[in-house]
Amino acid sequence: MERLDKILSNLGYGTRKEIKAIVKQGMVEVDNLVIKDSATKIDPNINRIKIAGETVIYRKYIYIMMNKPDGVVSATFDKHDQTVIDLLEPEHQAFNPFPVGRLDKDTVGLLLITNDGSLNHKLISPKKHIDKVYYAEINKKVTKEDVEAFEKGITLDDGYKCLPGILEILNADEECSKVKVTIHEGKFHQVKRMFESLGKSVVYLKRIEFGGLILDSDLDEGQYRELTHNETKSLKYS
Ligand code: URA
Repeated sequence: MERLDKILSNLGYGTRKEIKAIVKQGMVEVDNLVIKDSATKIDPNINRIKIAGETVIYRKYIYIMMNKPDGVVSATFDKHDQTVIDLLEPEHQAFNPFPVGRLDKDTVGLLLITNDGSLNHKLISPKKHIDKVYYAEINKKVTKEDVEAFEKGITLDDGYKCLPGILEILNADEECSKVKVTIHEGKFHQVKRMFESLGKSVVYLKRIEFGGLILDSDLDEGQYRELTHNETKSLKYS
């Protein structure tokens, strides 16, 4: 059981004070009875709430796919930079969501944002080996030997040996190569450091898949949408 004002403010219907006012005005019904006290406790999974005659769709969790833009940090708060949460509409911020893992400030692409702590835990757990796929541009020619090094498992600057990854060369040029990289873990700056250990630098990095979820090509950088029911389900069982 939860307070009516808490439920409605978490769903983005306004502050507790604003909700108290609309409840007092008799605009809120629970199971077809007008409720005048916003502190009334109800079970939102069972009791049906209406505001001004319109049924409130209750959900506890929100699941968002964002195409993260360059220059924005994957955090809920930052002193200097704009965060991915700042890019959300107030109705979505009301759920107090947070990013699942991190993309670097200059990395773009698929970022999952949710308030579902147990899904977050599962997806970022080092034991789970969730697949992450990136499109990257590299400052030098990427070779067959590099592909083999990824297959064997690259050792990073701190001595950590990565799990085998898949490197696919899309286009290899002396000054810029285009590649697709699949890894199963998420160490700090991992893709950049994997290429650094091969003497090459990542100049552009975009995540295109995460845990089987594919970045929606309709989303421009900075845009987002909620996951479909099937997408959420497949993540939970990934
Ligand atoms: N690897 C990186 O180096 N940076 C990212 O943002 C993600 C993976």
